[in-house]
Amino acid sequence: MSIQFHEETGIFSLTTENTLYQIRADASGVLLHLYYGKKTDTDMSYLIRYTDRGFSGNPHELAGNRGFSLDTLPQEYAGSGVGDYRLPAVQVISPNGSRSVDLRYAGHEITAGRKPLPGLPFVRESRETETLTITLRDRVIGLEVQLKYHVFPGQDVIVRSARLVNAGDEPLLLEKAASACVDFPYGRFDVIHFHGRHCMERIPERLPLPRGMVSFGSRRGMSSHHSNPFVILCGRGATEDFGDCYGCMLMYSGGHLEEMEVDQAGSTRLVSGIQPDGFSWTLNAGEAFQTPEVLLSYSAEGLNGLSRQYHDIIRQQVIAPRWQQGARPVLINSWEAAYFDFDAEKILRFARTAKELGIEMLVLDDGWFGKRDNDNSGLGDWKVNERKLGCSMKELSDQIHALGLQFGLWFEPEMVNEDSDLYRAHPDWALTDPDRSPTLGRNQLVLDMSRQEVVDYLFDAMCAVLDSARIEYVKWDFNRSICNCYSHALPASRQGEAAHRFMLGTYQLLDRLLTRYPDLLIEGCSGGGGRFDAGMLYYCPQIWCSDDTDAIERLEIQRGTSYGYPVSTMGAHVSASPNHQTGRLTPLRTRGIVAQSGTFGYELNPEGQSESEREEIRQQIADYHRYADLIAQGNYYRLNELDDGGDFVAWMFAARDGREALVNLVISHVRANGPFPFVKLRGLKPDARYRLEGGEQVFSGAALMNGGFSFPLTRGDYPAHQLHFTEI
Ligand code: GLA
Repeated sequence: MSIQFHEETGIFSLTTENTLYQIRADASGVLLHLYYGKKTDTDMSYLIRYTDRGFSGNPHELAGNRGFSLDTLPQEYAGSGVGDYRLPAVQVISPNGSRSVDLRYAGHEITAGRKPLPGLPFVRESRETETLTITLRDRVIGLEVQLKYHVFPGQDVIVRSARLVNAGDEPLLLEKAASACVDFPYGRFDVIHFHGRHCMERIPERLPLPRGMVSFGSRRGMSSHHSNPFVILCGRGATEDFGDCYGCMLMYSGGHLEEMEVDQAGSTRLVSGIQPDGFSWTLNAGEAFQTPEVLLSYSAEGLNGLSRQYHDIIRQQVIAPRWQQGARPVLINSWEAAYFDFDAEKILRFARTAKELGIEMLVLDDGWFGKRDNDNSGLGDWKVNERKLGCSMKELSDQIHALGLQFGLWFEPEMVNEDSDLYRAHPDWALTDPDRSPTLGRNQLVLDMSRQEVVDYLFDAMCAVLDSARIEYVKWDFNRSICNCYSHALPASRQGEAAHRFMLGTYQLLDRLLTRYPDLLIEGCSGGGGRFDAGMLYYCPQIWCSDDTDAIERLEIQRGTSYGYPVSTMGAHVSASPNHQTGRLTPLRTRGIVAQSGTFGYELNPEGQSESEREEIRQQIADYHRYADLIAQGNYYRLNELDDGGDFVAWMFAARDGREALVNLVISHVRANGPFPFVKLRGLKPDARYRLEGGEQVFSGAALMNGGFSFPLTRGDYPAHQLHFTEI
């Protein structure tokens, strides 16, 4: 049993293999957070201390007890306006204008397994999953909050969400509905958040949490390149391999907010959920609002330990079972090879050469539909442009399959160009402010996915294409941030619902397509990695990691992404040198090694490669297949500390049974007479003996992990090393 309730003390204990999460409903019904951290078998309520802090008020029914204050006690889901001055989890306006929410324990239920979340992505149940639902109630306004906890013992993950129900008679206006709130009464933390921009996503930044409030988030209607919905709180001394680390990952692809507050007594509150700016939701009597889920995890084994737990839960319970095992196809994408300039003949030439190289799938990117020879027009018109192609999609796909390749196609379903038949017919299907010229992004507008007829249109249009030809893969793009988030189908009072209803529409479309085409591989994309989040991963087992395909830039991007997400979810391609984004020249070998730590593919003109390059590509693909399991299923370790100022980036994969390991090291700055690049390996068996491939030398696991391994000095730009160790 991973969830236990102790009747006498009112304590709930949620246990995973290595962690304990403890909550207590106290005598006054306040739900207190007792502890989250390394597993103990103790009642942790001794950690709660009551004291009278000035200006921290006391509930009326406890008059005289000045030591009891909502403002000083660790809360499980903080209300607002009734004496806790810290970050609220929920904000509601009642019909009389009051903004107070006072939540008290009203009951609980413990059940085996978990129920799916209607309309939202969720963490799929495992055989061990148990669910705790605690109901909190505000007796005055009739708001009921059902806090859900799904425990995943094997991965050391606790999944939380909240369902807000209007159990009263009057409508309520939600202004904030966080997915989770966690109070850490003791300890000083650093926060690591993942910022970025188009072409440079998920760059970790580590900051000591100051007193007061710090927040990260996105107001773009998308999880964004700029701020990933994932933060880590770690002990001040935590490193990649040692120390306390807590992760908080929101499973949502829309706007989000992660807030932290260190209060007067040094306790830290973390709140995560849908972005409240611009959000409001009318909850009529009897209606419910379901928040997205948050994946909480704790590791005492540093950042690498925490990352491995997220990798496991995502690979095992987020990614669809269909894609959890087996290598994904090695693909070639036409974008950087041809951009908008192609016809079927050119694509078939690419396909022929790609086949000779060992590539398994050809993906036709943007430009095959409507009037689409540049990014000014055509989005929304999902009809094959046979004039441009010179044939039908079926003919093209048949010929590609006849060569022995699979075939994939690019879509950007949620968008529309003003210059499109769709927009001319349905201008009100775009999110635009009345009487105001819309702000453009890449010359396009955003469709109003909150409207059922828009979702239905897209479903039919996409099915028509997918039914017309054999298509095994779809690249699902999203190439601008949302603004003018006004739905012409919602009344004025409900415009605050448009952004979340947009996400529900997108999820519905993905869900319907996957129900109809269960074998369709959908790769998420948003100008690269602008929607790289656990929500999209529920539908798309891989996401194009960045529009920056430069291998040296990718070292940072993929490393940053790895804190929360496994490499098997990161779309990574070998592209041309000089690189199209940076102009940098890099060796093909280095490009191959970097892309291999992802869902591998190519994004270059295969005809432009010399004979020796072609040979090297064949070898890369053979290596990818040799190591595919180890990379996709093995344990991943970053071998450098964050910001260590070093001249190389190193990472490795160790088989889960420790019998094999693959070590990668790319030198980002070669120095004359520099130090030897040096790393300590991880995840091996100390007593086992390992042979380094390509030689006779044998090392013990203990030697490689404690004594480490040093690499010879090299010359030239951006050399890479790859070492393969196998137990003998
Ligand atoms: C986005 C994607 C690219 C490519 C283009 C096509 O930028 O990230 O990979 O598909 O759109 O327009």
